[in-house]
Amino acid sequence: MNNSLSARIAALRSELKDHNYRYYTLDAPVISDAGYDALLCELAALEEQLGEPVPADSPTQIVGAPPSNVFTPRTHAIPLLSLANAFSAEEVEAFDKRVRDILGNTAFSYIAEPKIDGLAVNLRYEHGHLSIAATRGDGKSGEDVTDNVRTIGDIPWRLKGDDVPEVMEVRGEIYMRKAAFAALNASQLAAGEKAFANPRNAAAGSLRQLDAKITAKRSLSFFAYGVGLGGDTLSDTQSGLLERLHAMGFAVQNTHVLPDTDALLAHFADMQTSRPDMDYEIDGVVYKVNELALHDELGEVARSPRWAIAHKFPAEEVETTLLGVDFQVGRTGAITPVARLHPVAVGGVTVSNATLHNMDEIRRKDVRIGDTVIVRRAGDVIPEVARVVPEKRPADAAEVDMPVACPVCGSAIVRPEDEAVARCSGGLFCPAQLKEAIRHFASRRAMGIDGLGDKLVEQLVDGGLIEHVDGLYRLSLGQVAGLERMAEKSATNLLAAIGASKDTTLARFIFALGIREVGEATAAGLARFFGDLDSLMAADLDTLQQVPDVGPVVAQSVLDFFAQPHNREVIERLLQAGIHWPRAEQAGERPLAGRTYVLTGTLTAMPRNEAKDRLQALGAKVASSVSKNTTAVFAGESAGSKLDKAQSLGIPVLSEEDLIALIHV
Ligand code: IVH
Repeated sequence: MNNSLSARIAALRSELKDHNYRYYTLDAPVISDAGYDALLCELAALEEQLGEPVPADSPTQIVGAPPSNVFTPRTHAIPLLSLANAFSAEEVEAFDKRVRDILGNTAFSYIAEPKIDGLAVNLRYEHGHLSIAATRGDGKSGEDVTDNVRTIGDIPWRLKGDDVPEVMEVRGEIYMRKAAFAALNASQLAAGEKAFANPRNAAAGSLRQLDAKITAKRSLSFFAYGVGLGGDTLSDTQSGLLERLHAMGFAVQNTHVLPDTDALLAHFADMQTSRPDMDYEIDGVVYKVNELALHDELGEVARSPRWAIAHKFPAEEVETTLLGVDFQVGRTGAITPVARLHPVAVGGVTVSNATLHNMDEIRRKDVRIGDTVIVRRAGDVIPEVARVVPEKRPADAAEVDMPVACPVCGSAIVRPEDEAVARCSGGLFCPAQLKEAIRHFASRRAMGIDGLGDKLVEQLVDGGLIEHVDGLYRLSLGQVAGLERMAEKSATNLLAAIGASKDTTLARFIFALGIREVGEATAAGLARFFGDLDSLMAADLDTLQQVPDVGPVVAQSVLDFFAQPHNREVIERLLQAGIHWPRAEQAGERPLAGRTYVLTGTLTAMPRNEAKDRLQALGAKVASSVSKNTTAVFAGESAGSKLDKAQSLGIPVLSEEDLIALIHV
């Protein structure tokens, strides 16, 4: 009696939870309010009749939908493995040989399944009801996406048939059909949002929505391809298992049981032909040993089963025409030629741009404007122009020339000898390079502006508050405090740090300019050699090469940088903003030449590397250990063994105040 009472209670709870979800999360009830209330009343009465404690998550105890548990981690009862890849017939044959070597004379067959380009999920069913859906994650545990998965029509909430395992974990792929993908991207674009690169990204983005209502609108699909926990007794073969899954209410793919590799490879060729006609994206064919008992015998290596392999399609190639070539400027100033193409569908997306990498590639492939070209796209990789079709070249096809000026800022484009990449030389001025320039300028070993992190740089540039690096020194408290996640206190601190950075060394300033090839050591070398900025800016190639460790490449890069009027303008404005360094350094004097200092303990006024830079800028050597040649030791707070050593050798020990007095000559 109690058994059937409990069973009815369980069924009612599960049914009511489904109704809650349809009502609150999906906005799509399938029952009238009165019908719902009747079920709820019945449940409450039965719970009372049973007389046992009522669990907190019973629909009689909660109002509305259960709290969204999206993205809480879930450990899979059995880990989800991944598949090894084969890219050639030889690799498929090697796979087959391994299988046969292990299985000896045992007869077996293969099953070929299309490899869906989506994302794997693990669906846990308890007593036939969907209880937890989790993403693959790292294979051991994934994220709980149950609410979102319930919006997918192909995934049954309740399994069909009576004879289903008590607990069963179904594995399969969530994906987006080509038509749904096209419709989604059209509406994304119409709404001014970014289009998804491919159906897999669209499926992943749609599944990982905190609001299941959004997932519901995205029309996702699902194919089941395996069973984890609870799968042992369902069938002897993978093909039989898929039939069982289908009978339970899952969508499964068209598959083929085949005897050997010849048949697999012939099937692969067929699939390659029919791939464009399929209404969902596949990126290969998965071959599995069909007899499930043999899976245990074959085992796994490196988290991939030895009983299966994914035979991947080669990158898809299509023909189109090259309408023109644009030149894009990357964040480090690299200039990349980009092909403008007559739009063409390849690998599931419409492509109208493709990379041409660099000028050497253009020459090597002999690409000309007007050419018919082959465009290739593999997985997530940016589409590229693979080659031209020379027979189709029109008479007026034009050679591609690298522009002389940066398309963004007009500074000269330079290409160091032996380098494939051409670059804009307006590093300090070019808007395309601004974020990178600011990041470098503010970094610890350059101007050392504390608190100016990447997020802030993004906001300052995207919000139009800074147009060039020198704009940092014109920011107002109001502007900074108006930024996201910026309290007035941190805004004040940031402005103070920007102000403090004006007091620097010539070496740090040169490093901060972000001249290509000029790292910290070279910047220090240049500062030491020239002593002041004007002489450095006026130096010719020969003079630059007299600087220790400066070869032709570095010298040319320095020359190119200062040759850009725009860079000079920004430098001028930086100096006007008040950036300065010790006069002695500026005058090229080296008052501390011949002296060797050691820094120890914690300094409070500046980081130790800054103190070191400043001492070096004035000609001193800074050593890391105390010896009889040490001139003096500067000891900050909690100085240890170096201090002891100095005392035992009778070397003068000076304070941080002494240090500051010394470097502010
Ligand atoms: S079987 C141990 N079958 O491909 C076997 N996987 O690259 C595990 N996939 O994580 C998977 N279609 O997300 C299997 N018919 C299919 C598949 C398939 C797509 C995905 C799956 C897996 C990935 C491995």
